[in-house]
Amino acid sequence: MSRENIYILGIESSCDDTSASVICNGKVLSNVVANQEVHAKYGGVVPELASRAHQQNIVPVVQQAIEQAGITKNNLNAIAFTRGPGLMGSLLVGTSFAKSLALGLNIPLIDVNHMQAHILAHFIKEEESKIPPFPFVCLTISGGHTQIVKITSHFEMEILGETIDDAVGEAFDKSAKILGLPYPGGPLIDKYAQLGNPKAFKFTKPKVGDLEFSFSGLKTGILYFVQKNVKENPNFIKENLNDICASIQYTIIEILMDKLKNTIKQTGIKHIAIAGGVSANSEIRKRLTLAEKHWGWITYIPKFEYTTDNAAMIAIAGYLKYLNNDYSDISVTAKARLKVTE
Ligand code: KG4
Ligand code: ZN
Repeated sequence: MSRENIYILGIESSCDDTSASVICNGKVLSNVVANQEVHAKYGGVVPELASRAHQQNIVPVVQQAIEQAGITKNNLNAIAFTRGPGLMGSLLVGTSFAKSLALGLNIPLIDVNHMQAHILAHFIKEEESKIPPFPFVCLTISGGHTQIVKITSHFEMEILGETIDDAVGEAFDKSAKILGLPYPGGPLIDKYAQLGNPKAFKFTKPKVGDLEFSFSGLKTGILYFVQKNVKENPNFIKENLNDICASIQYTIIEILMDKLKNTIKQTGIKHIAIAGGVSANSEIRKRLTLAEKHWGWITYIPKFEYTTDNAAMIAIAGYLKYLNNDYSDISVTAKARLKVTE
């Protein structure tokens, strides 16, 4: 007898992307993401505009996800949604929508921790998927977080180290802003860096604990470096954009690789995953592939579409909770601050 199909709808609305996804027994049937262009001209996410755009997007995005999956809403077994962390106004849109839909369909509601979901995206079943065994270590690198997390089972996580100031995504975005690039600047730095010399300019790496990160000093260093050079040559950025981006990216990725080396030395765990928006970066992906070849690390690099915010990761986390009968009460509330361990 074939196993029953379990369909989970995931809803993500923690920041500036409205996303919905349907997965069936851990396989993605649809993953619709509506990006909000409205923030680019402000150089960062404007919370009030984000929640308004979520309100406009959520119904069509969910409808599209269900249609693309080739099912109807009556086939759904549960609704999973992002409870936090994130922007309160944004989280409230997804939370209220998920609650109403679960109530209307009379099916379980499952709250998901966004940071856990970034990590659990590694458990999405794909044709050629490589699923990490427990325990493994995940470097979670996004616009709001930079953490080294030890994962002992799907929902047992321990933070081994984290940033003491800015997140690595912020380091990319703020550096891009200094260079006059629009938000979010991370992907643009990546793009220009591919044409530049990573050793053209040297930036100082921070001195913090073995498993800690700090990016605010680097950001200030880059600001002073740019200001000084622009004073001498007003066309400095334009003439050197590729080399500046390559050098910034090289420094940031060196910092991340150093921390991973320290983690392996301290824990003895060689199964290393990356997750979060910055794991889309081509250089960190390349360096991890090389580490596997040369140093015997076993690395887990998410598919590109599961790196930045998406609802497939929320749906897979919801599916894993569903299998444990771990449902939420309808009184559950959104939480702007939520640790990966909560
Ligand atoms: O995980 P995410 O989509 O949202 C948060 O939960 O924060 O991460 C967004 C971050 C932004 O800072 C963005 O600039 C960065 O991920 N990012 C990148 C790349 N693609 C996205 N940073 C460097 N290189 C990229 N290719
Ligand atoms: Zn995220």
